Amino acid sequence: MLCLGFESSCDDTALALVEDGRLIADVASTQADLHALFGGVVPELASREHYRLIGRLYDELLHKSGARLQDVDCLAVSRGPGLLGSLLVAVSFAKGLALGSGKKLIGVNHLHAHLLASGLEQELQFPALGVLVSGGHTQLYYIASPSDFSMLGCTLDDAAGEAFDKVAKMLNLPYPGGRLIDCLGMNIPPERTLFPRPYLDNDNLNFSFSGLKTAVSTWLGAHQELILARQLTSKNCEVVFAAGKKAVETGLPVSNLPPEISPQLPQMCSSFASAVADTLYAKSARALKHIAADATRAPVRSILLAGGVAANSRIRSAITRLAKEHRVPLCVPSPALCTDNGAMVAYAGYLLAKTGRYHTLDMESIPRGRAIPNDYCME
Ligand code: KG4
Ligand code: ZN
Repeated sequence: MLCLGFESSCDDTALALVEDGRLIADVASTQADLHALFGGVVPELASREHYRLIGRLYDELLHKSGARLQDVDCLAVSRGPGLLGSLLVAVSFAKGLALGSGKKLIGVNHLHAHLLASGLEQELQFPALGVLVSGGHTQLYYIASPSDFSMLGCTLDDAAGEAFDKVAKMLNLPYPGGRLIDCLGMNIPPERTLFPRPYLDNDNLNFSFSGLKTAVSTWLGAHQELILARQLTSKNCEVVFAAGKKAVETGLPVSNLPPEISPQLPQMCSSFASAVADTLYAKSARALKHIAADATRAPVRSILLAGGVAANSRIRSAITRLAKEHRVPLCVPSPALCTDNGAMVAYAGYLLAKTGRYHTLDMESIPRGRAIPNDYCME
């Protein structure tokens, strides 16, 4: 089965072809540089960029793969959550193709697609605990099967990625700053008492990262020398990424950073990232405990970690430790499949199509904040 996937929920326009669960070809264009000028995604600009790019990316994908629309069995598209104007671009494009070709349309929950993405690289085992950490969402799921997700908990305010990006902004690092914070703190031992592990003193599975953000802001008020005097240039961002990569390869603390970076900044970054990672570890461990105590749920056979923030080294190692302790495999997509991409949408669409699910042309795009209805038609 050949599935063509479309993604335009935020600031990445991405398309991919997946055949029987295997990635055949993908194309993508990110608008990160454009939105970095404004310190965050500007919705109106994002939708205009998607509209400008989607047609040519579609042509490029067919050219690159040698596939024709006639060969495609289903058209999968991210239908939400996301920015409404952005979502509408790919949803309308996919609907147009479905109308013109008679191919099946499948609306995919963008967050479920993130969680299933590692299935492109390894076999997934269900039921699974889903740990989703992205720029807009932090959620825990009990995933009984690729088409049966129950949300166990979510953030009450900021998402983990938002906390990373806002702390980066306080430091005068460019948007989105999560990866820079990760690289700056690479292999530097954290100071565990510097920042709190927020919202753990309860018995629920929700998150709240706004207090941690305030703690960082207060701490920085007393340590202003760590704040960069000027925004890092894109050349110096590359220097930081290269230093982080070298630290990963050598296992040594990050070094050779640009001179405007204070020598104390790496430890602050490492301490902040550890506070987020420890919090995710604690709530994920609690979720496993709740599931094990629930007689109506079959035991978890794997942990799926996903979303842009799953690329973070400390979060990856914290959840790896959790999986080891519970003797279940951890599935994390490779970094390229962690950020928004077309392959995860095509793959999720393929899994849903296999169960006979599809949508009619009146399928709605769902903006962030509204629940995504389970309104599939069945073959
Ligand atoms: O899932 P994603 O690509 O977009 C959304 O759907 O939200 O996630 C983007 C988020 C941004 O907040 C970015 O700063 C963060 O992922 N991010 C990271 C890392 N790489 C990306 N955060 C921490 N460490 C990283 N290595
Ligand atoms: Zn996403």
